[in-house]
Amino acid sequence: MSANTLVLDCRNVAAYYELDYGIRVRAVDNVSLSVRKGEIVGLAGESGCGKTTLMRTIYRDIAPPLRLVSGVVRLQSANGEFIDVYGLSEAELKKMRAKVISYIPQGSMSVLNPTSRIRSQFLEIFQKYGRVDKNEALRQVKERLRELGLRESILASYPHQLSGGMRQRTVIALATIMNPSIVLADEPTSALDVVYQRGVVEMIQKIREMYGTSFILVSHDMGLHYQASDRIAIMYAGKIIEVGNTDDVFKEPLHPYTEGLINSLPRIGGSKKLEGLSGLPPSLANPPPGCRFHPRCPYRMEKCSAEEPPFFTVGDRQVACWLLEGK
Ligand SMILES: Nc1ncnc2c1ncn2[C@@H]1O[C@H](COP(=O)(O)OP(=O)(O)O)[C@@H](O)[C@H]1O
Ligand SMILES: [Mg+2]
Repeated sequence: MSANTLVLDCRNVAAYYELDYGIRVRAVDNVSLSVRKGEIVGLAGESGCGKTTLMRTIYRDIAPPLRLVSGVVRLQSANGEFIDVYGLSEAELKKMRAKVISYIPQGSMSVLNPTSRIRSQFLEIFQKYGRVDKNEALRQVKERLRELGLRESILASYPHQLSGGMRQRTVIALATIMNPSIVLADEPTSALDVVYQRGVVEMIQKIREMYGTSFILVSHDMGLHYQASDRIAIMYAGKIIEVGNTDDVFKEPLHPYTEGLINSLPRIGGSKKLEGLSGLPPSLANPPPGCRFHPRCPYRMEKCSAEEPPFFTVGDRQVACWLLEGK
């Protein structure tokens, strides 16, 4: 696979929560996103914008009240095989998980089984997916821990005996032990102190370097994206509204929402109060017409409440904002 190979291609995906009284929460609404081999793509946006639902939908972790409405998700495995995620049988889906795509859910500290030692949790994965005996599995686990700079002694520990940062790094080591092509990591650092956050980011970057793994790194924290991601996708009210190279986006955000997110970041040494975002994201049961951001947008025009903006391409950036029309 060349460096430009697409590992994940998600096209026009929509997934709604269908609730009682005909309430329909349009949490993921016509989203397209692709990830190249070895790339770390940041998925940003305030809480409630649909980031977690998008990850669940890509992983096909879809159960009522969540319903897949439309779209195609394709993955490419390490041997170049294309996988149509929504076309797989349940058995095929199980087989694909951990080996091609791995998902670290939000609040994943709780993913670890509190009553079992870390060693058993690694071995369980090998039992499920690996084709090697226990000794070989343990050898591989130890080698992996060494490569990732984790102490072998964690294998004998129960989760509660590890620090928060070490627990989160263990979760990532578990999620990547089968060398998946892509990992969906949902807010992997949000529960951690800043000091531990860096350790987690460094580990993700190391895994990418060593094994060519791609990541979607979900976070509401723009500072984390600035540090960690190659490209960034900004999600607002169920839609991706800007995608581009992280450096370019931070240098010159083109969507007013992206600009608001970046301006909300605290700056070291900055004394002047920056214009951040006011208000809150809308209810996705009844989103505003036109551009969903228009009620909060300082630059809104008449058109913005009437017509949904398409994506405009600016260099290698995609921006769904009428301000970019004709530019
Ligand atoms: N189980 C659920 N039932 C109904 N609505 C939900 C459920 N889970 C999430 N939502 C709604 O879907 C929207 C997107 O939520 P979520 O994907 O968790 O966003 P994020 O991860 O960006 O915070 C929100 O409006 C949230 O209230
Ligand atoms: Mg979330």
